[in-house]
Amino acid sequence: MIDRSASDPVPIGRVVATEQKPATPHQFHFWTATETSVGIGAIVRVEGGGTGDGGRVVFGVVTDGFAYSDLASPLHDVIGAEGDPARAAGAPTARAEIRLWTAAVLRQMPEEPLQPVPLGDVHMASDADVALALRMDAYLHGARPTAIPVGLYTSGGLESPVYLDADFLVGPEAAHLNISGVSGLATKTSAVEFLLGALFQHFPPHRGKIAAVCFNVKGPDLLFLDHAGALEEEDRRRYARLRVDPVPFDRVRYYAPFKADGVNLNTLRSHGELVGAVEPLVWGLTEVLDFAEVLLNRDDIDAKADAFIDFLADRVVRRDFEDGFGGQHQVETFADLERLFRSIFDGLENAGRGDIWRTHHIATIRKVRNRLGNVSTRCKGLVTDDGPSSDLPWGRFEDRAVYVIDVANVDPLGQDLVFARIVSKLREHLERRDLGVDAVAVFVDELNKYAPADGAETYVKKMLLDISERGRYLGLVLFGAEQFRSQVHRRVVGNAATQVFGRMDADELATPGYQVLSPATKIKLATLPVGELMLRHPHFTQPIFVRFPRPPVLRGRDGVERYPPAQDLPFEDAVARQVTRLDPGVRPNQVKDLIAGREEADVRRALGAVRRERPADLLATLRRRLGGRVAPEAARERAAVPPLNPIPEEPY
Ligand SMILES: Nc1ncnc2c1ncn2[C@@H]1O[C@H](COP(=O)(O)OP(=O)(O)OP(=O)(O)O)[C@@H](O)[C@H]1O
Ligand SMILES: [Mg+2]
Repeated sequence: MIDRSASDPVPIGRVVATEQKPATPHQFHFWTATETSVGIGAIVRVEGGGTGDGGRVVFGVVTDGFAYSDLASPLHDVIGAEGDPARAAGAPTARAEIRLWTAAVLRQMPEEPLQPVPLGDVHMASDADVALALRMDAYLHGARPTAIPVGLYTSGGLESPVYLDADFLVGPEAAHLNISGVSGLATKTSAVEFLLGALFQHFPPHRGKIAAVCFNVKGPDLLFLDHAGALEEEDRRRYARLRVDPVPFDRVRYYAPFKADGVNLNTLRSHGELVGAVEPLVWGLTEVLDFAEVLLNRDDIDAKADAFIDFLADRVVRRDFEDGFGGQHQVETFADLERLFRSIFDGLENAGRGDIWRTHHIATIRKVRNRLGNVSTRCKGLVTDDGPSSDLPWGRFEDRAVYVIDVANVDPLGQDLVFARIVSKLREHLERRDLGVDAVAVFVDELNKYAPADGAETYVKKMLLDISERGRYLGLVLFGAEQFRSQVHRRVVGNAATQVFGRMDADELATPGYQVLSPATKIKLATLPVGELMLRHPHFTQPIFVRFPRPPVLRGRDGVERYPPAQDLPFEDAVARQVTRLDPGVRPNQVKDLIAGREEADVRRALGAVRRERPADLLATLRRRLGGRVAPEAARERAAVPPLNPIPEEPY
């Protein structure tokens, strides 16, 4: 039974239907007094009507408005005022003016039989009406509610919370969210930050654990999610109404690659007080090799190179391998691999055995060597030639934690590699159900860069398509943001069950993707104030406008003002800081004394090893790892391996 106790008994309008403008099952027109609180986006309730329709209730959302007088043509008004606008105002009788509105049907009760909207009274919706109109009653109440607050519907003095259904946001019924709108005014990043907070607080307990992985691709955008931001009284009121606590995220883990020096982190969160919480992201050969396709498909998809990479991955890396010329190899790092390549080239040359090694043409081998060498050169700091890797805590993801991966300053090739590997690993672990959490929301800003509507089929694009199409079964959910939806691959945006729009660009609204919106709705979208959004969600049959509060976290821009990024530290200091972070009992000078006069590469390797091992006595282990002060063996060995200079490729 519908609770109408809170509804206003006095109608604000009445449905009209004419031969030209009849009411249909999905649209109707109504008139109101000229003074009315109805506006575009307002939700209304139609009741009653003629006999036989007494019990029918229809909810609609206003999509357009018109004002009329009884004039048949503007000419009559002009002649009546003798062509003088000043006299028109002084006419002895004011012309009757009406307000006519068009509304799209949100819900009919009962739903069957589906009939045209009756000519009934129109009322402004109450809180309960909004819940019914948007079909939120199904997931808002009951034994296992799945409602996630997303914003407030505000119209006619009402402030009703609007909820998304977690089953349709995170799966399994439907999934993914896409938000678009112009830079700065659409509040895309802010809206996602707010929504992630609301999702963490309201994700239903029976759905298990959830985490978020956010790629920071722009400046300091997402680097202060664990710090409180400035909120206004109005924001706090909205939080209270939505029953969301306005607190920053309490479990945020930051990851950033090193800069080319291998010891200073490549992030704007480098202020002395905060950089301690940033974990290095460093990958070696074994991590990168599986994603070699990312590197190859940029200019050519090549079955021969693919086959050779597969051969390396399956038969060579992490195995005892004999190169056919008497050399034994244990390939673990890029440097080991380079040694193998050298002995293959030398072996072929010395033996005069032509151009084929183990069925692979020398040109293919050179090409793969160059591509792989290219990664460790271009992504220096992310990809290490030797030395151990440092990675996300696969298998130990924590409930309600946010993992921020800062790739804002990484070369596009490195960014692709980071995306490809992290998303593929998430997928792999979620498939095996051993990630540590049951669902992950992956936030990708600037989606147009990674899944563009046109351009080559890159590995990253294929992967984003794959999540969009299959992620909901796994609990792998994409939260994507971009300025122009039309520039993102159709199937990536099309598969997002929840679509959010902030202030839109008028040119963008003229593209075919927005044809379903009424002209008035488009105008509202093009002039939307900050903090207001338009939502489409599977339960809502029409787009709905909501307001949301500022996110409870420090804006990136304010963060770098409050915590200015530190200058890069000299090598010794940067190492000392990393060690003291791992073990606060160690004094920086002890570390500096220990590493004084050592080869930087050796220090980086030793530091990587202690970072991975986390031994009880860190300083002693570091000393042992560094070995004797003079390491002639190592020095000679290094000298034998020339740097990874690209060798010109020969045509096949
Ligand atoms: N709910 C809100 N109410 C009022 N102002 C807000 C609200 N949310 C965010 N803002 C403000 O709007 C501005 C832009 O927000 P945001 O950076 O999220 O936009 P964006 O769409 O991500 O922009 P860009 O495309 O440049 O990344 C910020 O200065 C922010 O403080
Ligand atoms: Mg943004």
